[in-house]
Amino acid sequence: MAELAAGRHEFSPYKGRRKVTVVGAGNVGATCALELARRDYLEVVLVDIVENLPQGKALDLNQMGAVAGFEPRIVGSNGYEETAGSDAVVITAGRPRAPGMTRDDLVTTNERIVGSVTREAATQSPDAVLIVVSNPLDAMCHVAKNVSGWPKERVFGMAGILDTARFRTFVAWETGASVKDVQTMVLGGHGDQMVPVVSATTVGGVPLTQLVARERIDAMVERTAKGGGEIVELLGTSAWYAPGAAAAQMVDAILLDEKRVLPCTALLEGEYGIDGLYMGVPVRLGSGGIEEIVELELSDDERRALERSAAAVRDVVGVLTS
Ligand code: NAI
Ligand code: 2OP
Repeated sequence: MAELAAGRHEFSPYKGRRKVTVVGAGNVGATCALELARRDYLEVVLVDIVENLPQGKALDLNQMGAVAGFEPRIVGSNGYEETAGSDAVVITAGRPRAPGMTRDDLVTTNERIVGSVTREAATQSPDAVLIVVSNPLDAMCHVAKNVSGWPKERVFGMAGILDTARFRTFVAWETGASVKDVQTMVLGGHGDQMVPVVSATTVGGVPLTQLVARERIDAMVERTAKGGGEIVELLGTSAWYAPGAAAAQMVDAILLDEKRVLPCTALLEGEYGIDGLYMGVPVRLGSGGIEEIVELELSDDERRALERSAAAVRDVVGVLTS
């Protein structure tokens, strides 16, 4: 009974499944675990520092499968033993933004948390990929990279899929199109200086600039860049449905070797003229993690905006203690 209550089971049916650890069983982590569980090809280990929280959420999520018709295999834990041998580790542990707080205010607290979580998870799963979600995202990727010492192909962050989803949503609303037909890309740091790339935005293949007046496009670009803050103002905490689903999409792309080109936060070493900095760029994601950084042709304005975004990320990275 105690085993079951802890979200573990007396039998061990998980051997045939790929394994993903999600650290942080809060809003984003639990949503990501749910999205992953719905896929029916994974065992998910949900870890949190708060006693009983991951166990309780794992139990609830496992029981949801019976209602919703999927076959979840979720284990909750306060330790890392159960995470051993994970193929991917999603790090959502840390504090979210509160109203009036910038992502960058979080840097000191979350540096400590992401550092300790990375150390524990990397020890148990030395061949995994690390997907960082905790904010301030770009700086936390540097922390995970430094602490793990892993190659850049296996340490990267989730932000661009979320930021791109926001821009796609606003474009779909503005044009009356299906969001499925809106293609776009958001580059740069996960902060107010991010760069929605208008020149790469199309609706059903038609350039956005042919469909919408410049000032309306500028308003959508602005709303996207401040999209996280808009939700914080409404909810008193940051978003979780879209972020959790976005991290799950990255897991799929890697574990199913989909070779998808998705915007992710990758360590740049000269690409886009930026060196030694984690920034959001399109990457090809497959079983090796980041298999390629894709370089888009940017307008002069977009390139300058990307440089401003890089400067903002450098400022936050400069606050890190190590
Ligand atoms: P939350 O407060 O709901 O959950 C965070 C969880 O982390 C809590 O359950 C907490 O107990 C746990 N935690 C804290 N220290 C820990 C440790 N040392 N080990 C294990 N677990 C620990 O927060 P939420 O909303 O889930 O956000 C999580 C993080 O993700 C925040 O930093 C937030 O800013 C960030 N975020 C990033 C996004 C992105 O696009 N990259 C989007 C949305 C949120
Ligand atoms: C978001 O963009 C706060 O990073 C979080 O929703």
